[in-house]
Amino acid sequence: MKKMGEKQERVVVRGLRDVAAAETKISYVNSNGTLYYLGYDIDDLVERVCYEEVAHLLLYNRLPNKKELDEFRFQLISEMKLPEQVIKRIKRAPKDCHPMEVLRTEVSHLSEYDTHTNDNSDAANKKRALELVAKVPTIVAALHRTRTNQQLVTPSQEYGFAENFLYLYRGKPANNQEKEAIDRFMTLHADHGFNASTFAARVTASTNSDMYSAITSAIGTLKGPLHGGACEKVMLMLDDINTEEEVEEYIQGMLDDQKKIMGFGHRVYKAEDPRTKHLRSIAENLCHHTDTLNLYKTCIKIENVVHDKKKIFPNVDFYAAVVLNTLGVSKEFFTPFFASSRISGWTAHVIEQYQDAVLLRPSSEYIGEFGRPFVPIEKR
Ligand code: CMC
Repeated sequence: MKKMGEKQERVVVRGLRDVAAAETKISYVNSNGTLYYLGYDIDDLVERVCYEEVAHLLLYNRLPNKKELDEFRFQLISEMKLPEQVIKRIKRAPKDCHPMEVLRTEVSHLSEYDTHTNDNSDAANKKRALELVAKVPTIVAALHRTRTNQQLVTPSQEYGFAENFLYLYRGKPANNQEKEAIDRFMTLHADHGFNASTFAARVTASTNSDMYSAITSAIGTLKGPLHGGACEKVMLMLDDINTEEEVEEYIQGMLDDQKKIMGFGHRVYKAEDPRTKHLRSIAENLCHHTDTLNLYKTCIKIENVVHDKKKIFPNVDFYAAVVLNTLGVSKEFFTPFFASSRISGWTAHVIEQYQDAVLLRPSSEYIGEFGRPFVPIEKR
């Protein structure tokens, strides 16, 4: 029973596809398959900088010089330490809940130990951002160690930051291939325009809520299988496919059942995701050194079959799954590894959103009724 004329017609952009919700200087994602961090093409960065340089770039808008890098790394590694209460809660978390749920809760919990939560100055937020970039990987590693009944590991100033993360998770130092792999993985996952989790963080920050709340929103959003949760699902698919010969039938079966192939397709890229070639090459290198080239070959076959049938490309999550698996990370920790890298981009976006100082609040097109006659409860 709609009374026309009572409502304002609006254009609905389903899924906010191609809608620019704000201006940003942090990263640029182009449909032709390019990605820039603060003006630098990631192809120029990925083999030449370490993750700490990227985190510095995102946080302070410029690459550090050698002295600044050493200081920044020292600060990051020093800040990896968690409050005792957070460690206690990690140890008490039910074993069967997903690591992303524990991460979401413990990031929120960290705010209780920030003595200046109400200080929303740029300086306070930069300090908070650095602490979150340092502490999120520690939460992830501590949760894994706890769940596998292993001692927590203390970070070492002898190692790089990404290397420390893997060290805290596995409890053994990384070899050269592994060091390079985890560092590049983190660099490639550091930021990516207005993806859903970054947008969620910015929406929360736009209300002038605190950074922990914004990052908690982001973690909850990244968890979904259409976003960062896809990585874990990719591994489930790879576990299901035993040999290259099974690929064709498996993929056809998924498509016949109208199921999405995880790790494929992208909202923005219509060409190959620019991160894929780097992750593919890291995956090949790791598989080569661990005698698991069959897994890599199966992935190449999947890539070709999916492209032939759907004309879509692998996204960041496809080869990321192989990289993490080969590094010895359990699949339910894949998305937490993603979050541990994206935290540098999220915090940079939260700070940019505070500077923009505008409430992100879209409207909606109401398609319900008007003028329904009210019936008192005793007559319903
Ligand atoms: N498997 C099968 N078909 C697909 C897939 C896929 N993974 N992705 C897209 N398509 C099809 C889609 O069904 C549509 O076909 P048609 O035109 O026949 O209806 C066409 O390709 C265009 O896709 P779209 O619906 O415009 O894509 P979207 O922008 O709405 O969704 C997406 C993007 C990432 C959610 C989607 O590609 C998807 O669900 N992929 C699988 C999950 C995944 O890998 N997510 C990670 C995304 S990238 C990294 C990250 O954000 O974490």
